[in-house]
Amino acid sequence: MQTIPVHSDKKTEVKRIFDSIAGSYDFLNHLLSAGVDFYWRKKALNLTAMGKDAILLDVACGTGDFAIEARKQGVRHIYGADFSGNMLRHFNKKSDWIIGKNVQLAAEHLPFTGEYFTNITVAFGVRNFYDIPMAFKEFARVIKPGGKVTILEFRMPTNPLIRVLYNAYFKYILPLIGRMVSKDKSAYTYLPESVEEFDKNVDLVKLLKEAGFKSAARHNLTFGLVQVVIGVK
Ligand SMILES: C[S@@+](CC[C@H](N)C(=O)[O-])C[C@H]1O[C@@H](n2cnc3c(N)ncnc32)[C@H](O)[C@@H]1O
Repeated sequence: MQTIPVHSDKKTEVKRIFDSIAGSYDFLNHLLSAGVDFYWRKKALNLTAMGKDAILLDVACGTGDFAIEARKQGVRHIYGADFSGNMLRHFNKKSDWIIGKNVQLAAEHLPFTGEYFTNITVAFGVRNFYDIPMAFKEFARVIKPGGKVTILEFRMPTNPLIRVLYNAYFKYILPLIGRMVSKDKSAYTYLPESVEEFDKNVDLVKLLKEAGFKSAARHNLTFGLVQVVIGVK
């Protein structure tokens, strides 16, 4: 059994950060990733091969870019879920088609009974969860048999040269630009710290299997900067 440190104040701090940076999140996200984040979401959805009649819950949806990509690929029944009210408000502004279906909730406590969803997606959110095993058990509870969970998340690249460049970018350049634009001192310092700690301690494939998913597989993208993990119930 994998042990993951649970910080009692993590929930409050993460929510505070995203409420505070919601207004600049999209701009910074696309700037700091040079737009590659769009490709990562698209690729993750292609690997999932979601049908048009899927019933999708996009957890930690933030301002909604993963759900919006799923919509572009033809999925009609989409629910967005996040615990930051400010991030959800920006999502609502970008997507009149989803209004009324976005819900404010924590991934660790899903207010749904039974096996309702065919798919759950999480892009760049799992690292922030305050209790990942608990969230994955919730996912397994509300997903239909044969349904899939798709997780897109950063990781530390293994290639030594890429790792040096990655560290320089994440530790010095990204926090500087992040601070200047978002005005939140801790937000973009927290990002690289949490990626490093996360990669050392968390095996998403193992955790999904422990939560009740029959199979789970990892795909690495862009020199291993990002992983897509797909679990099947
Ligand atoms: C980096 S953003 C990702 C947003 C979006 N998925 C994307 O691809 O741009 C992470 C989001 O996860 C949300 N979040 C973090 N922990 C959460 C939790 N335990 N339950 C629900 N939402 C959470 C934050 O509020 C934030 O909106």
